[in-house]
Amino acid sequence: MLPTVEWKNGAVRLLDQSRLPEHIEFLDCRDYRAVADAIRHLKVRGAPAIGVTAAMGVALGAQAVTATTYDEFAKAVAGICDELAATRPTAVNLFWAIERMKKKLAGLRTKPLPEIKRALVEESQRILEEDITMNKAMGKHGAALVQSGQTILTHCNAGALATAGYGTALGVVRAAWEAGKKIHVLAGETRPVLQGARLTAWELMQDKIPVTLITDSMAGSLMKQGKIQLCIVGADRIAANGDVANKIGTYSVAVLAKAHNIPFYVAAPHSTIDMATPSGDKIPIEQRNPSEVTALHGGPSIAPAGVDVLNPAFDVTPANLITAIITERGVFKPSDLASRFTS
Ligand code: MRU
Repeated sequence: MLPTVEWKNGAVRLLDQSRLPEHIEFLDCRDYRAVADAIRHLKVRGAPAIGVTAAMGVALGAQAVTATTYDEFAKAVAGICDELAATRPTAVNLFWAIERMKKKLAGLRTKPLPEIKRALVEESQRILEEDITMNKAMGKHGAALVQSGQTILTHCNAGALATAGYGTALGVVRAAWEAGKKIHVLAGETRPVLQGARLTAWELMQDKIPVTLITDSMAGSLMKQGKIQLCIVGADRIAANGDVANKIGTYSVAVLAKAHNIPFYVAAPHSTIDMATPSGDKIPIEQRNPSEVTALHGGPSIAPAGVDVLNPAFDVTPANLITAIITERGVFKPSDLASRFTS
């Protein structure tokens, strides 16, 4: 797979996901505001990928700070962090990664500024590398839950594109496939932004993992016909009680899975688990532009001009609909998360 995000020649290079699958284009962000813009406009998206990109944005912004004392430097970096944190509200990985960069900076108070700047780049690289390592561990744990011959429904894109590499939900799929299990993936198209159609289908096809694209409204009927044995999705934020915020439409899949007695798994690293948010109703849900609903992938309008539109980008699946949460530390019941992840 092509790298989603990387530090390249002093810039943050992003695979522009708003152009996929028709165009493979890279975007070189040379200042942190370009990084913030890319996050805001979904050029990079998916909770872990947003976190890694924000960390690199902090490092990039820090390189350009001209302060001569630590305090002035730290103040400028705090402003950069605030701007990056204001890009999207739901995926907690964004805030997690920015906090980690701030913590790194605080620990370097006595070091010369050029060394601090270098260390911030290195920290963002470490966040990227750890993300891939966690995804592979998650894949291994999750693959044990997948049996050969199964058809797996996924929603949105929780693959290499949504992370630094390998993927969360699709990491489980990849690991099962690499272990020789004969599986088939159903990718829900994921209205309104079509991450399933544009990204998941494309990503799996690149890896030659069998995939069939369906519209979101087909899931129930296919479950009733016995054509789906497993559901695996990613997450944007998991509350302390195990409630999961993920792409809009995830809740509907979870309700359908429960009604048809089909296991429903969520795959996510610890950077997605937010112990400071007690339950799903406290998770901020991003409301996006109505134009995403009234037009498909930037095409002509499919609705009457001026129609009232709702466009919440995420929903919350309550813990009682989730069979288990697959993490890099193992597979846990949602109700056991709090005792396994303290921060
Ligand atoms: O709006 P997006 O495309 O950033 O939303 C992404 C999702 O909802 C993913 O399913 C989620 O981040 C899990 S990614 C590993």
